[in-house]
Amino acid sequence: MTGVLVAGDANLDLVLRGDVVPRFGQAEQLLDGADLVLGSSAGICAAGLARLGVDTALVARVGADVFGARTRELLADAGVDTSAVAVTEEPTGVSVILSAPDDRAILTLTGALASLTGEDVRAALESTGATHLHVASFFLVPQLARELPEVLGRARERGVTTSLDTNWDPAERWHGVAECLPHLDVLLPNAQEAVALARSLGEDPADAVAASVALARRGPLVVVKDGAEGGFAASPDGTVVRAAGLVLDVVDTTGAGDSFDAGFLAAWLDGLSLEEAVRWAAVAGSLSTRAAGGTGGQATRAEVEARIAAERLP
Ligand SMILES: Nc1ncnc2c1ncn2[C@@H]1O[C@H](COP(=O)(O)OP(=O)(O)O)[C@@H](O)[C@H]1O
Ligand SMILES: [Mg+2]
Repeated sequence: MTGVLVAGDANLDLVLRGDVVPRFGQAEQLLDGADLVLGSSAGICAAGLARLGVDTALVARVGADVFGARTRELLADAGVDTSAVAVTEEPTGVSVILSAPDDRAILTLTGALASLTGEDVRAALESTGATHLHVASFFLVPQLARELPEVLGRARERGVTTSLDTNWDPAERWHGVAECLPHLDVLLPNAQEAVALARSLGEDPADAVAASVALARRGPLVVVKDGAEGGFAASPDGTVVRAAGLVLDVVDTTGAGDSFDAGFLAAWLDGLSLEEAVRWAAVAGSLSTRAAGGTGGQATRAEVEARIAAERLP
């Protein structure tokens, strides 16, 4: 039996380093590095959960091509159940990341991943018997997004708990999220997303904490990623708890938010207190930044526990 079903995007990231600012006119530029790694918010979160020892399946769509096969292989290597990753006729999604020392450009083809449906998720809930449903990248899966309030509502009727990390809305309208809030146990935005989402709902929050308290009043526990500051959680009753991340040498923050989500869900589903679960999230998020790519630095359960125990010593 599976613990967590993650639903959303699945694709590879082709990360290019060196002379990456394109010059047209058929100029050939030589690179310092090129890595093809697991990308996608849902894929990275699922890998993070599996690394933390949580029984995890992913429901997503890829194509019948080399990128699709590699996506499934990397997920399976990470310990994720890929039986609900469907192979479809569209090409697998891919992101090309032009990675400069202080900034990056991302060129994405969503391809097959964008066609995920509510029925895909309902069927995967049934076949895996998962007891928690986590949805990632709401704005990249428009069909599922439209059906999501109903999918979440039905899941909860069957005793399945629910969470959502929308990630940023490229259109900045945040359409459709309000309807999901009453059906969510946990909403996992970053600080900017929390403010933008609250504003889209007619709130005028002074900061991310106020935004999260306003969002929590609409139903879910709101657990917020706050970059180097760590994270915090706002409960529907208005209480806020904070947890710091780790101070470490950051190599790459790609996917840190997805590893934060994995850390929170692993601890929360284990029945740890809210304070402990936010601490788990912040530590798992921080540790993921110690290596390149979204999954290269992801922590095991023993590593998170050791870091938390070490900081409790006098
Ligand atoms: N510079 C950093 N130092 C330590 N931890 C970090 C740093 N940046 C991010 N993290 C960790 O990763 C988590 C998610 O990062 P953030 O960038 O806020 O999320 P997102 O990727 O969704 O934008 C943070 O809550 C924190 O735990
Ligand atoms: Mg994020």
